[in-house]
Amino acid sequence: MLLQLQQMEKRFGGVTALRSGTLTVQSGEVHLLMGENGAGKSTLMKIVAGMYQPDGGAFLWQGQPVRLTCPADASALGIAMVHQESLLAPHLTVAENIFLGKLPSSGPGFVDRRRIQAEAARLIEAHNFPLQADWRVDRLSPAGKQLVEICRAIHRGSSLLIFDEPTSSLSESETHEVFRIVRTLRERGTGVIYITHRLEELRSLGDRVTVLRDGETVHTAPLAECSTEAIIQHMVGRPVTAIYTRESLPPGEELLRVDHLSVAPLLKDISFSLRAGEIVGLAGLVGAGRTELCRALFGLDRITSGSVHVAGRPVSIRTPRQAVAAGLALIPEDRQRTGLTTALPIAHNITLAHFDEVSRHGFLNRAAEQSVSQKFIQQLRIKCESPRQRAGRLSGGNQQKVAIAKWLVKQARVFLFDEPTRGIDVGAKVEVFETMDALARAGAAVLMVSSELPELLQVPDRILVMRQGTLTGSLPGRPTQEAIMRLAAFDKEPAA
Ligand SMILES: Nc1ncnc2c1ncn2[C@@H]1O[C@H](COP(=O)(O)OP(=O)(O)OP(=O)(O)O)[C@@H](O)[C@H]1O
Ligand SMILES: [Mg+2]
Repeated sequence: MLLQLQQMEKRFGGVTALRSGTLTVQSGEVHLLMGENGAGKSTLMKIVAGMYQPDGGAFLWQGQPVRLTCPADASALGIAMVHQESLLAPHLTVAENIFLGKLPSSGPGFVDRRRIQAEAARLIEAHNFPLQADWRVDRLSPAGKQLVEICRAIHRGSSLLIFDEPTSSLSESETHEVFRIVRTLRERGTGVIYITHRLEELRSLGDRVTVLRDGETVHTAPLAECSTEAIIQHMVGRPVTAIYTRESLPPGEELLRVDHLSVAPLLKDISFSLRAGEIVGLAGLVGAGRTELCRALFGLDRITSGSVHVAGRPVSIRTPRQAVAAGLALIPEDRQRTGLTTALPIAHNITLAHFDEVSRHGFLNRAAEQSVSQKFIQQLRIKCESPRQRAGRLSGGNQQKVAIAKWLVKQARVFLFDEPTRGIDVGAKVEVFETMDALARAGAAVLMVSSELPELLQVPDRILVMRQGTLTGSLPGRPTQEAIMRLAAFDKEPAA
């Protein structure tokens, strides 16, 4: 057995993140690790990667008890981890990040820049990643950073590789490349632990699955013996219906109208409208311009031509402040960077965009802040100790929920959700859908950008599809997967 973890425990102050984490991995095995947001998956893996010291339990490596005191100890054993949140050095290049802490040198004290550049270029090329070895990491998209993390881990992890939700921000082709990498690693006899919330796409890849719930291992079995329903049931601890169905409302007044909108260089001549009570899906492949459209509407990118009306009135939006004043809200895709202030308490983050409601005469009213945030903590089931906890201390998925809550407090009428369910567990997904539904029922219009075909087929009343910066079609609710893909990937809808 390569790795054996028995009843691992980890506490952070008064918070018990892990009470009994048990997991074994063999060489050449792909082991899926699943569980709801906050279940303790990342914590358990950070112990294996030498980042956290356990408070109890046994850690055996190839049958011998070990004590890792730092990530370098894990590296020395051939253990590497692709992190959920980027831990790269932002001001360094892609190549420097890949080799950070393991730089080849050309003599004492010298770093051979040319060599790391060349080796990084080779690694990137072998996987066909859209990266350049000399790019600075802070200029990369979330997906780009993830790919750098993957290159770095492949470079280090010879015995055991841990992937903590590596594909949640990747495109389809990049995701397939990651799966191909995992297969190659398995063939080579490397052990792989893979954390994911998307069981279906991992089914063909995994050998066994372990489920954590509230810091405790509740199930381990060969994947072939587990139905999806059974795994979900172990995750949430109760039977659930994974299928969400929404009842459409009769659409009301037109809340957003976009006419011939262009944003250089990508978006060209986009026209559509959203009505009160509607949830409209926005589909497309990565790079189609969906995020750019949201950004432009929210005043983050400059609109080069075209017009926007909100509730019948023409608006000119050049800044997010103007967008908010006009009644728009954006729940951005890259929530870690743009949505959250990780050093501030959860309550501050939730009420940040909402100072008026929690203040009096310019002073913050703590009781109001507390009660407003408590309401959203319950509604979105944010797993935390108290609203005063720092947002950065939450698990990845729970941070996402805080960023969503932040915008729900604002009295907006048009909500732009960019990939709202990314990184969120099955139970919470339904809550996000219900939140969008509640907004629509309260008279708002919702635009929901999503790359998840199943949820695009379940939730929206109708679907807009983009390809290469233009709208290629509009489909009524519950279309087929093929209908969406045809508009997203190929030519315009044939004129009816
Ligand atoms: N550094 C920390 N300080 C305090 N609490 C922490 C810290 N890291 C994690 N926790 C808490 O431990 C629990 C488990 O978190 P963890 O990140 O392991 O969850 P996870 O299973 O990876 O969830 P997700 O699917 O959302 O990523 C959470 O309640 C979290 O708030
Ligand atoms: Mg996590």
